[in-house]
Amino acid sequence: MAEETVSQDQSTNKLVWTDSWSVGIPILDKQNKELMVTINHLHQVYADKYEKEDILTIIHQLYSYCTTHTSAEENILRGRKSEFLEFQEIHHAIFLDYIIEVEQKVSQGNLEVVSELLDFLNTWWNEHILKIDRDSLL
Ligand SMILES: [Fe+2]
Repeated sequence: MAEETVSQDQSTNKLVWTDSWSVGIPILDKQNKELMVTINHLHQVYADKYEKEDILTIIHQLYSYCTTHTSAEENILRGRKSEFLEFQEIHHAIFLDYIIEVEQKVSQGNLEVVSELLDFLNTWWNEHILKIDRDSLL
């Protein structure tokens, strides 16, 4: 397996796609690139002045990514009778539950969770997408 290179712009914290992040399946890479764009957008919004509605729009994009991407990935793993399927399903459920929890908090006006959400997404990117997904799929 190629060594992962965490490519992150030091001044903006934005992720910059590198082919070493590929999981080898174009549709999943495409979805992960969309997630990357959403995470970068959240970094930008967080650095600027933002309203509750700006964050909710991004959270809804994250929810949509999660449901689309994880079901596509789980279907591939199921088709392969992969030993990673159950572990992935548990992780994906944690992601979705967390997004729902953050959505509720932001809807109630709690915008302090945005910084926690950014940390969660950075950890998700580095620990799930770049490690667990690549170990499961490559
Ligand atoms: Fe996954």
